[in-house]
Amino acid sequence: DASETARLDLDGLRVVVTAGGTREPFDPVRFMGNRSSGKQGMALAAAAAARGAAVTLIAANVGTDALPNGIAVQPVSTTLELEKAVTEAAKSADVVIMAAAVADYRPAQVQQGKIKKEHTGDRLTVEFVVNPDILAELGASRREGQTVIGFAAETEPDPATLLELGRSKIARKGCDFLVVNNVGWNHGFATDDNDVIVLNRSGDIVMEASGTKLSVADRILDATLSRS
Ligand code: CTP
Ligand code: CA
Repeated sequence: DASETARLDLDGLRVVVTAGGTREPFDPVRFMGNRSSGKQGMALAAAAAARGAAVTLIAANVGTDALPNGIAVQPVSTTLELEKAVTEAAKSADVVIMAAAVADYRPAQVQQGKIKKEHTGDRLTVEFVVNPDILAELGASRREGQTVIGFAAETEPDPATLLELGRSKIARKGCDFLVVNNVGWNHGFATDDNDVIVLNRSGDIVMEASGTKLSVADRILDATLSRS
């Protein structure tokens, strides 16, 4: 029926979404991770699929049981695994959404056996090396007609400073849109609600939304992909 058809505004689009947070192992039993729940990314994947897109979700350490049918899920854990998966998937994607929280660093060495206190003593020093900036790579290798969307989780209480951070970040990343959200000890992570502003390449605010992560997901898709 007509109302059903009208909602399939992303029909035919191939959308890749990364969600969750990467983990970097120190040894076989421990990792450094972050507090991303993957909820906003999964909401974007679900919303895009509901609107007719062919969605691939690259899921870093999130439970994907509740996802609707029709979403191809590729589980990854480390940043290098996520880089490999999204680089490959991006080759045939119209849209890439980097909602995952990517670990900026990984331990320079991964111990093959458990790190033991009797060997380290009262302090443990771990050296980290920087991870590749996947979003910047996607921005640099973006094909004609491909849309690349990044996220920026910031802990900046002042709205004007937050906007400045977002503007310099989108310039650095070379993506088409940047979804900026404020996170802190008690908000943004693992909650069902989110507050975002969306910037375009020129640093203009193209949308502001707050509400459930699913409603915010639809608003993000409206602002960045809607062709009607
Ligand atoms: N990102 C990425 N690869 C990285 C780090 C981040 O692809 N190594 C992506 C994230 O998925 C997100 C965007 O870049 O879409 C912004 O991440 P953010 O952590 O806010 O930016 P950074 O450049 O890492 O800067 P900082 O953490 O120092 O603020
Ligand atoms: Ca970062």
